[in-house]
Amino acid sequence: MTSLVLKPCCFFFLILFVSQHYSVSATKKSLDPRNPCKRFVLYYHDILFGGNDVANATSAATTNAIGLGNSYLGMLVIFDDPMTKDQHLLSPPVARAQGFYFYHMKTTYNAWFAYTLIFNSSDHKGTLNIMGADMIMEKTRDLSVVGGTGDFFMARGIATLETMTLEGFKYFRLKMDIKLYECY
Ligand SMILES: *[C@@H]1O[C@H](CO)[C@@H](O)[C@H](O)[C@H]1NC(C)=O
Ligand SMILES: *[C@@H]1O[C@H](CO)[C@@H](O)[C@H](O)[C@H]1NC(C)=O
Repeated sequence: MTSLVLKPCCFFFLILFVSQHYSVSATKKSLDPRNPCKRFVLYYHDILFGGNDVANATSAATTNAIGLGNSYLGMLVIFDDPMTKDQHLLSPPVARAQGFYFYHMKTTYNAWFAYTLIFNSSDHKGTLNIMGADMIMEKTRDLSVVGGTGDFFMARGIATLETMTLEGFKYFRLKMDIKLYECY
């Protein structure tokens, strides 16, 4: 008697499970990491203000490291940095990166970024907002593209960062491989 009652019930759950399984895999397929709806590479140039390079500097530390560990923990840098299509610092910028990073790890160099890429040219007008932890010692790091406006209306995706050059405390250049998975 019990088994007669259970059977239709189990059948119902089986159908539910199967349909959920299929809807989940369908969602995964449409967000295949290998198939972004838009992809482009830009280079980020950061020249930290040293006290007498006002014309050249593009960023400044607004708080100092607090001495907890040897990896700058506590230092906050605000930037308005040029983004170029190739690696050259003096190439005409196609966007600006405006935001901040701060060092937040005691044991290794790890910065946390939050910034807006601002496009204002005949090619693109709009913004992309990017944030996440930048584990500097890793060869590549993935940050989240959390939203966009204008030409990038409601965009979401991944920005893969790679350090191309690091000149002590003065200058560094990052490659940003921006892959969007939601485009409207
Ligand atoms: C965008 O560019 C136009 C033309 O150069 C300029 O007038 C405008 O102020 C710029 N807007 C921003 C937000 O920089
Ligand atoms: C500006 O800074 C960059 C990076 O440190 C350096 O290569 C360049 O020579 C500087 N330019 C001037 C005019 O000081």
